[in-house]
Amino acid sequence: MRTLVTGGAGFIGSHVVRLLLEAGHQVAVLDDLSAGRPERVPQGVSLHRVQLEEAGAVDEVVAQVRPQAVFHLAAQVDVQAAVREPLRDLTVNVAGSLVLLEACRRNGVEHLVYSSSAAVYGEPERLPLPEEAACKPLSPYGASKLAAEGYCWVYGAGAGLRTTVLRYANVYGPGQEARAEGGVVASFATRLAQGEPPRIFGSGRQTRDFIYVTDVARANLAALEGPGGLFNVGTGRERSVLELAQVLLELAGRQDLQPRTEPARPGEIERSALDPGRAGTVLGWHPRVDLREGLARTLAWTQAGSPMEAGALDALAGGRGA
Ligand SMILES: NC(=O)c1ccc[n+]([C@@H]2O[C@H](COP(=O)([O-])OP(=O)(O)OC[C@H]3O[C@@H](n4cnc5c(N)ncnc54)[C@H](O)[C@@H]3O)[C@@H](O)[C@H]2O)c1
Repeated sequence: MRTLVTGGAGFIGSHVVRLLLEAGHQVAVLDDLSAGRPERVPQGVSLHRVQLEEAGAVDEVVAQVRPQAVFHLAAQVDVQAAVREPLRDLTVNVAGSLVLLEACRRNGVEHLVYSSSAAVYGEPERLPLPEEAACKPLSPYGASKLAAEGYCWVYGAGAGLRTTVLRYANVYGPGQEARAEGGVVASFATRLAQGEPPRIFGSGRQTRDFIYVTDVARANLAALEGPGGLFNVGTGRERSVLELAQVLLELAGRQDLQPRTEPARPGEIERSALDPGRAGTVLGWHPRVDLREGLARTLAWTQAGSPMEAGALDALAGGRGA
């Protein structure tokens, strides 16, 4: 199948590209490289350096690639940057998504798979969160991801575009830089590689649902075969940030290091875990890589010097069978 991956030079997008190629699909990438890296894009995959907000340029790329399916991962993903500059966040995440949807409609794309976030839910009423839970985002980032979901449904209904929305928990794994959303594992692993203790914001008792990046990429491929709809992509398990730090210290053989604590940051959720039951039933998708195994692979990648080339990520992260 002909596919286009927006944000394909980014952390998660580059794993989606890898797995699509492994499954025999044709892949093109649209990315403005504001946070992405060209070396993450495998040789032979065309990289269109375009900003999502540039309607004419985005339409041109979609018309040229003529994808049957579009995986939409390009976004402003930094929660703190969205707090500082909510209008910029809205422009990329909402207006940019609308530009892409319009280009999909004009060029007869059949299926759009949108990468959304657990941030759309806000503070949970119960855990793990099912897809029907109320959405009351706490951050401009969560609000912009939710607004873009709305436009996906509009185009799904009105333009006959099959639409799948995947709400990811906290994604981690090889290829992630120590910044941006969900970057806590990358930040801890990078500090450990430098012999520094993990830095924890807040008490460390805040919980997250950590999902390995290859599992997330596999969810995108599973969505391609599915009927469309809304799916959580997580493990269903809460893990505290303190527990995460302890497992990493143990794996690195550095239990002598004590995590350092810093004041909590605004706009962050206290507890989170996503119920992945629907993705299991409808898409046949289940997470495969448990936290210890995923953290060990991430540490091994960091200790190898954090290579970003597609070939190195292939070797260290694991493929579709991972
Ligand atoms: N990392 C996580 O834990 C997590 C959790 C939930 C949801 N998500 C979602 O997954 C997707 C991918 O996130 P990621 O962690 O790989 O982030 P990333 O920053 O590594 O990737 C985003 C990519 O989008 C590109 N991009 C940014 N603005 C753009 C623009 N205006 N036009 C074109 N390209 C642009 C960047 O250059 C980058 O390559 C995002 O939609 C994000 O909201 C991520």
